[in-house]
Amino acid sequence: MAAIGVIGAGYVGLTTAACFAALGHRVVCADRDADRISALRRGEVTAHEPGLPDLVSDGLRSGALCFTGANAEAFADTDFVFLCVPTPSGPDGAAELGVVRSVLAEIGSRDCRVVVKSTVPPGTAAALSRETGIALVSNPEFLREGHTVADFLHPQRIVVGAADPEDARAVLALYPQAPAIVTDPTTAELVKYAANCFLAMKLSYANSLAELCEVFDADVAAVTAGIGSDTRIGPDFLRPGPGWGGSCFPKDTRALAAAAAAAGVDFPLLTATMSTNDRQADRVLRRVVAETGPLRGARVGVLGLTFKAGTDDLRDSPALRVAERLVAAGAAVRAFDPCVRGPVDGVEVVESVGAAVEGAVAAVVLTEWPEFGALSWAELKPTMALPVLVDTRCVVPVEAAREAGMRVVRWGSASVG
Ligand code: UDX
Repeated sequence: MAAIGVIGAGYVGLTTAACFAALGHRVVCADRDADRISALRRGEVTAHEPGLPDLVSDGLRSGALCFTGANAEAFADTDFVFLCVPTPSGPDGAAELGVVRSVLAEIGSRDCRVVVKSTVPPGTAAALSRETGIALVSNPEFLREGHTVADFLHPQRIVVGAADPEDARAVLALYPQAPAIVTDPTTAELVKYAANCFLAMKLSYANSLAELCEVFDADVAAVTAGIGSDTRIGPDFLRPGPGWGGSCFPKDTRALAAAAAAAGVDFPLLTATMSTNDRQADRVLRRVVAETGPLRGARVGVLGLTFKAGTDDLRDSPALRVAERLVAAGAAVRAFDPCVRGPVDGVEVVESVGAAVEGAVAAVVLTEWPEFGALSWAELKPTMALPVLVDTRCVVPVEAAREAGMRVVRWGSASVG
């Protein structure tokens, strides 16, 4: 059992703290957001993460987990400090390291292993180790929102980068058994970006295939099934949609592109991955307008606002980008999302799918919430101004919607109607 301090109680920090406590360690988790800390002390978890509220309550009850507003309490008498603080995109796309630096300054010469979980550009731990005299260990996270607890407790791999192999061994010993990649800090940092940027690239590839299929009158679902069954390609992350988003992919692609450019390395796959994504919202708008005609003064019903299903997170959501385009084209947008209760800029957030699509010239599915696959279009259609359904996530059973009289635009297929 180790004594662990965790700095940051966001998705990553809170999951790290609660899971380490569940694994038998003693954990102090610090966050500068006083309201968040008060809520957590009462066992209230706002993050939409299955299993996390229970782990937090268990940890509080057993005393294995506690929360503080003062970082220093997370450094006192701890063997390890995990940095789980934000590294947002700066104006040039590079990751901003201000919070990481200020926490390191607070840690100073304390005698504990300092582990960076925050996503930082390759070379950061090495440079900051030289600057601060703290031998930083890199241990990137691969947690998917909505699955953070399961991903933490059953990792596909654990990556640890340390200058001293003894530090790497000590960090690995905190975790459950899993395949381990032990390397130097810079390589570990690069693994994280390489993973997220590859996944984003795979999605942009799938979205470009969808565009091609629409032009050639082919079926993208069959194309992705056809390539995904090749084990060298794999079936995951080939579902086309209105673009990828969230708190990681946009930020990480920008940061690696900025790091590559600063190092003088031409990485056109990365820039194309991003520019392909930037085009997707306009593509959705074009397909809506192709069915409805000009949107000025018309109402459009948007189904789904979060960046993916299973989360309440709106950060860098492709659905918001599409809603923005619809509004710019003159539409009045009413949106329903099972996990969002307004307000959202420019959009009227309503309480039901029925309220979103009433009087609308089109219903546009932008997040793959499973409940959107079980709607009764026979009931919804008579309330709409035009029976147009644009399903960018392919969750609606097409035949049933067609039988109900809807004109269905299938994403990644030329077929309409
Ligand atoms: C991602 C990584 O998966 C995770 O390992 C990392 O630590 C953080 O970033 P997350 O941001 O939670 O996790 O989302 P993810 O499930 O990976 O989805 C990212 C985006 O891709 C979403 O907008 C999602 O809708 C989109 N997506 C994903 C698709 O459009 N199609 C797919 O087939 C898969």
